[in-house]
Order: sequence, then C-alpha cells, then structure tokens
Amino acid sequence: MTAIDQYRVVGNPIAHSKSPQIHRLFAAQTGQAINYKALCAPLDGFAGSMDEFFADLGCGANITVPFKLEAMAYADQLSERASRAGAVNTLVRREDGSIFGDNTDGIGMVRDIRQRLGWTIGAARVLILGAGGAVRGVLAPLLAEAPAEVYIANRTVAKAAQLADAFADLGPVRAGGFGDIEPGYDLIINGTAASLAGELPPLPAGLGAGAHCYDMMYGAKPTVFMQWGQQQGAAASADGLGMLVEQAAESFYIWRDQRPDTAPVMAALRAELI
Ligand code: ATR
Repeated sequence: MTAIDQYRVVGNPIAHSKSPQIHRLFAAQTGQAINYKALCAPLDGFAGSMDEFFADLGCGANITVPFKLEAMAYADQLSERASRAGAVNTLVRREDGSIFGDNTDGIGMVRDIRQRLGWTIGAARVLILGAGGAVRGVLAPLLAEAPAEVYIANRTVAKAAQLADAFADLGPVRAGGFGDIEPGYDLIINGTAASLAGELPPLPAGLGAGAHCYDMMYGAKPTVFMQWGQQQGAAASADGLGMLVEQAAESFYIWRDQRPDTAPVMAALRAELI
C-alpha cells in the first residue's frame, strides 16, 4: 500500500487558516489523493517541526505567519522570486531529500489582478501603499508585468526607499511618503497593515478617481480601502481573497503539476465569508 502524500500549512496560530479547505477543494477537483492539514508549530520550534514532518516523508508545506523568514533559512535552495521576496510560503521536499523554498504570494496577486479581474498591469502606473513584508513579497512578480512605473508610498519613507533600491534592477520603481503622491495612478494596491485595524493611510484627495483599487486584505464586507476607492470614484475595487486562492493554486501546481480551476473555490470561500 502506498501512503497518501502529506502536506501541511504551518503557522502559529493556525486554526483559522483557510488553506486546508482550499487545497482539499483543489484535490477533489483534480482527482489528486493528498492529505493537507494545519500544523501549529511552537514559536521557538519551527525547524524542529519541519524536520519531523519531512523525516516522516512529508511532501510539502505552506508557511504562514510568523514563520516565512525562518522557512527561507530552512530551505536548502530558493527560487529567485523567494530570495527577492525575502520570505518563503511554499516548501517542497525533492527526491534527494533536499528542501526547496518558493514564494507564490506575488504571482498569486498578479494572476488575480490580471486574469480574474482583467485589470491591466503592463504599462500601467502602479501605486503601492506600504513597504513591509507583504509588499516586498509581491514586487518582483509585479515588476515582471512591465508596468510604466511602480511608486512605493510608506509612512516610514526610509523603508520604501530601501525596497525601491532593492528592486531597481527589475524595473522603474520609486519611493516616497503619502504626502508626496501625485495623481494619475491606474492601479493602487494597499499593502499596509493599517487596514487590519480598519484604518487607512492619509491619502491625497482625488487620488482614486478612475483607478483600479486592490486590497491585499480581505473580509466579509468591502474593506476600508475598497470603500475609500468607491467614494473616490474608482473604476473598480477588489479585496485579496483571490490572491489567497491564487497563491494556493500556484503552490498546488508546484507540488502536483496540476493547475486547479480557482473560480469555483473562490466562489465557495466568498459564500462562506458572507
Ligand atoms: P506585513 O508583513 O503585513 O507587510 P509589516 O512588515 O509589519 O507587515 O509591514 C506593515 C506595513 O504597514 C508597513 O508598511 C507599515 O508602515 P511602517 O513601515 O511605516 O511601519 C504599514 N502600517 C502599519 N500600520 C500603519 C498605519 N497605521 N498607517 C500607515 N501605515 C501603517
């Protein structure tokens, strides 16, 4: 008898993760026999938990808060996009037993924006709010779409400037504070943690008019950033539930070499949120 292939989502806390449900839906849809469960690693015991899991012939894992940096250190090899992101959300055990680390967050966001929503990134003027780990994680795949410009605005301007420097070789990327933002952006992406508390950075009036507004956060109701976009006369606004599903689909593809159809999974999750 062949043992069923094992996958985990690893975080702390992890009980509320939607990843097990998403991957079970992907597995059912593609006819793959896998076992995907949540694993709560001790805050001081990530590497030990992963050693145990992979020694037990675990095949792969998604990594979430607060272990994405530790997962990067844990991997034996990294994809280019994971080293650029400075974080790993997907681990794979290769046939020789070595562990490969990847990051699917950025490609997940880009696919959601470009394919599901049908918004244009190529040649667009893109504004990103925030300069933390979430923003760092998406910059390389975003710049790979060849936007006309990416402007990173952050409360702490020095952090935005560091990011702009670190990614300058990949495309036209600049940095500044919220007060310096000029009008005329086609796509505005919110990656600040402020919206978790229902807050918005101080943005110039009129900025959102005609723009496409994308929030990396999601919720049962339109996020504060989406509401801001609607009040500003945005062309459209969306939350990051699709990014969650698309990053999972990319991990599933890396592990199983099968691309699930994300639309029904997205619909199922949305229905449960409401
Ligand atoms: P994450 O991994 O979610 O990106 P992070 O690395 O702590 O978390 O980054 C949080 C981001 O949200 C930062 O850009 C932070 O701005 P600072 O770099 O100035 O700290 C931003 N942020 C958090 N609270 C904010 C607030 N109340 N107003 C504006 N920006 C805020």
